[in-house]
Amino acid sequence: MTYRHPRFPVYRPRRLRRNGNIRRLVSESSLDCSDLIWPIFVCEHSDRATEVSSMPGVRRLTIDHAEGAAAEAAQLGIPCIALFPEVSAVDKSDDCREAWNPDSLANRATRQIKARVPEVLVMLDVALDPYNAAGHDGLVEDGEIVNDPTLRCLQKQALSHADAGADILGPSDMMDGRIGAIRHALDKGGHASVLILSYAAKFASAFYGPFRDAIGSGSVLVGDKKTYQMDPANSDEACRMVARDLSEGADMVMVKPGMPYLDVCQRVKSEFRVPTFAYQVSGEYAMLRAAADQGHIDLDSAVMESLLAFKRAGCDGILTYFAQFAARKLADRNSR
Ligand code: PBG
Repeated sequence: MTYRHPRFPVYRPRRLRRNGNIRRLVSESSLDCSDLIWPIFVCEHSDRATEVSSMPGVRRLTIDHAEGAAAEAAQLGIPCIALFPEVSAVDKSDDCREAWNPDSLANRATRQIKARVPEVLVMLDVALDPYNAAGHDGLVEDGEIVNDPTLRCLQKQALSHADAGADILGPSDMMDGRIGAIRHALDKGGHASVLILSYAAKFASAFYGPFRDAIGSGSVLVGDKKTYQMDPANSDEACRMVARDLSEGADMVMVKPGMPYLDVCQRVKSEFRVPTFAYQVSGEYAMLRAAADQGHIDLDSAVMESLLAFKRAGCDGILTYFAQFAARKLADRNSR
């Protein structure tokens, strides 16, 4: 930029901040309900429908209550919910076969919600961790997470979720070749219109802890996920993963976690110009909530600021456990 603004006192940038209307006129980004994807934890029985201890304010919901949440999403103008099943211990195995059971919790929840609240998009993760006795996203053989045999499982899982009516699939496992394998299986299975939102730049992060509590995969996890999720040090690699997933057929891409990786969000959006999402993950939710619950920050404004930051970085949308909270605030703001 060669432009040089005049100097003080001619140049008074504070003029543009003088009052709310001027600030609104010149604001460069905005947050809308249509930017939100709401992750919801689904459980089988009402005795598990309790608050997640590391995520105050977030409950697991039975299918009926998840349907209620979907209805509220529709009413608030949230376009999409993402369902995450808490799979009971008896359904976790080494071969992960529950992942493609047509009557799995995730598939039953999806069927019911799509039958009763068809106007809300339902997104499901494609990854084996909720179903794996070892808590890993891929099959484990002799202590190793094996890539190619996992792809066949992911294909079956993706087909079962598409058959159940999922609109969007989110491969979150970070196996090599998964997007191409899943796209191929979907197309062959008559699901050419099911979208893929790839967890393309997914980092091996400490911020997923509360999520693993919520779905009960944390206590069973053997070791860590560093042989498939990315090193937090790398952003060139994040771009390579995005390029790779797009070339295999991803419709949209995601960066995860969110707030500590805004630089990656910005790079991905500016280098690829494709629909780009960020996942403000469970640990980010927990941090904001904990600080607010201690009275150290104001929850309303901190949450809205954090979500706006994703838009400023170039994201088209955000997966956030604050979706319902933020949508209510936005509706409030608009009605005033
Ligand atoms: C599973 C999956 C994870 C999250 C979404 N899908 C956890 C993980 O990779 O261990 C994390 C979401 C969150 O922390 O909110 N593949």
